[in-house]
Amino acid sequence: MPDINGLVQKALEYKSDSLKNKKLGVNKRIGCLFLNPSMRTRLSTQIAAQNLGMDIIVFNVGSEGWALEFEEEAIMSGKTVEHVKDAAPIMGKYFDILAIRTFPSLKNREDDYSELFINQFARYAGIPVVSLESATLHPLQSLTDVMTITEELQKSNPQRSRGKNRRSKIVLTWAPHVKPLPQCVANSFAQWINAWGEAEFVITYPEDYELSKEFTNGATLTNDQDEALKGADFVYVKNWSTYTDYGKIYCNDPEWMLTNEKLRLTNNAKVMHCLPVRRNVELSDEVLDGPNSLVTEEAANRVWAAQAVLSEILTPIP
Ligand code: CP
Repeated sequence: MPDINGLVQKALEYKSDSLKNKKLGVNKRIGCLFLNPSMRTRLSTQIAAQNLGMDIIVFNVGSEGWALEFEEEAIMSGKTVEHVKDAAPIMGKYFDILAIRTFPSLKNREDDYSELFINQFARYAGIPVVSLESATLHPLQSLTDVMTITEELQKSNPQRSRGKNRRSKIVLTWAPHVKPLPQCVANSFAQWINAWGEAEFVITYPEDYELSKEFTNGATLTNDQDEALKGADFVYVKNWSTYTDYGKIYCNDPEWMLTNEKLRLTNNAKVMHCLPVRRNVELSDEVLDGPNSLVTEEAANRVWAAQAVLSEILTPIP
């Protein structure tokens, strides 16, 4: 894992002075490849790159490019037109940094968790590759989330210093949804909050919705949402499909939607969600439109997290 607090500090510095490194990326070009839809990631990464003086090209590979093959030694007699081992090196010549969004199929867990798509780009591009959300992780979202939590903690206690304050309680709660969604955001959030190590961390979900232990180890796990919410300072709401019997929806219990009534169990918790959100399915209007919601600020912070990561890549190693 990276130096999380160092990256958060950098992101907060860019938030207070967005153009402080406006020449760092001059004469450098980033290619943003989208195999899947996006609003926040796409726009925030472009703004971040512009703030650093970079040129940006966005390519919707999924809808506008040739269908790519990722398997080694594939006999390409089906729908795929170009192999990633031919396409990626060309992108490596066009760009200085490649950033890629690709979702899981949710059909085969082993394939998705092997991260074939992004790993093949990293293998053949020959330039730094940034994840804009992959089959199993969404690191720029998680950096943003830790930044947003840090910012809130600093607002409520400006004197806050590491290791000398009451540990905050952060709860990641499963929420209902109408279709099977990837585990990426939940995996990544769990991975980053565990690695950050500055909070009591509880993950709550209905039976059969456990996540991979690879990411949740270190957190308290419970199927009792009310118990989990008690005393929480931050509640992170997210749906995910099943991990063990992969990619299914078993429980779509509306009782799991976060409401103001449930929020009363918490320590007046701030509420987070990566967005997009299904209103009154995952999260109620009253919570999203209420004073505890951080979702707009959280999405706005995506710019500064992306800028912190791009500037790390652009800064020459002494
Ligand atoms: N949170 C997030 O990644 O949003 P987009 O899918 O709109 O990029």
